[in-house]
Amino acid sequence: MTTASPVRRDLANAPLLAAARGLGPARTPVWFMRQAGRSLPEYRKLREGTPMLRACFTPDMVVEVTMQPIRRHGVDAAIFFSDIVVPLKAAGIDLDIVPGTGPVVAKPVRDEKAVRELPELDLANLDPIAEAVGLLVKELGDVPLIGFAGAPFTLASYLIEGGPSKHHERTKALMKAEPEVWHALLARIADYTLDFLKVQLDAGVDAVQLFDSWAGALSEKDYREYVLPHSQRVLAGLAFAGVPRIHFGVGTAELLPAMREAGADVVGVDWRLPLDEAVRRLEAAAPDAPKPVVQGNLDPAMLFAGWDVIEREVRRIHAEGKAAAGHIFNLGHGVMPETDPTMLTRVVELVHSLS
Ligand code: CP3
Repeated sequence: MTTASPVRRDLANAPLLAAARGLGPARTPVWFMRQAGRSLPEYRKLREGTPMLRACFTPDMVVEVTMQPIRRHGVDAAIFFSDIVVPLKAAGIDLDIVPGTGPVVAKPVRDEKAVRELPELDLANLDPIAEAVGLLVKELGDVPLIGFAGAPFTLASYLIEGGPSKHHERTKALMKAEPEVWHALLARIADYTLDFLKVQLDAGVDAVQLFDSWAGALSEKDYREYVLPHSQRVLAGLAFAGVPRIHFGVGTAELLPAMREAGADVVGVDWRLPLDEAVRRLEAAAPDAPKPVVQGNLDPAMLFAGWDVIEREVRRIHAEGKAAAGHIFNLGHGVMPETDPTMLTRVVELVHSLS
């Protein structure tokens, strides 16, 4: 049950929260990763002239951008508009989000000295985040707000590589060659992540999603040894709030049971694995655990294939999701910027009509 919080709304019957608890809501809830952003003309207009990171620290803008997909699509949850590198920026790490590229770090963190010199995060620097969450929970009525953060591995990849990376080679090299430096780095990042999520929880978010977007680059063995303990510390550190914890990564078919063990109440699945097969793997790995709850898994590329294809895929995924104790309909990764937003609205209507 949700811990009494002076700010958190009582939304136990909201379809998203009921599904996350495996309680069989009246309808299958649906929201989209990256539902706020460049697919929406109203977003592009609002963001004109404001760099991404400045937008993330401007509460009025965060509120407006977060609300845009709620008004347009009628989704069952809002996701807080921010970015996984916001806590790193708040800690004073020199980085930027470059349009069309992603996060770029001025001085990549690649040795023991650089790890030791990573700054403490002054919580006051996250005040704009708390303020934006506070404004949003007032504005959203009975629509749940999902807070989020990047998981230690995915953030480490940006810090070590210095930017987006296809193969994560420097990250894996540090991990295997200097495990002590690696674990010290992941522990520091886990602290930032926990601070970022606790601020959101204290301000009233109703669920959290921990994005380990690039964890699928690892073998299960390496994931368990070098990553799982840190993600586990983050997710365990949020238990006090009693809200659902969603954990997601791309290409993680082989890691789903381990990611659940990290402390996920809801396991995010990309489009590579049918949801009923994901459920089967999760159950086989933990036969005594409660039946799993999953989120996903429409391939975002299918949104470019025309309505007939989309409808067929949505119906298939909705049917496969019945294998779980609860299914939160979503994409298998984020909305791509060139997506026609009317297709997203139609997906919401279709999912709601199925139940
Ligand atoms: O609607 C939402 O989902 C909420 C907002 C959100 C953003 N970033 C906004 C954003 C969320 C949940 C994120 C998380 C995030 N950021 C992840 C994990 C999720 C995933 O997609 O795997 C990652 C890996 C990042 C790092 C990052 N930040 C990337 C790869 C990019 C895109 C770079 C580009 O220009 O293509 C960003 C920038 C970013 N974050 C944008 C948005 C809307 C685009 C910036 C813009 O509009 O100018």
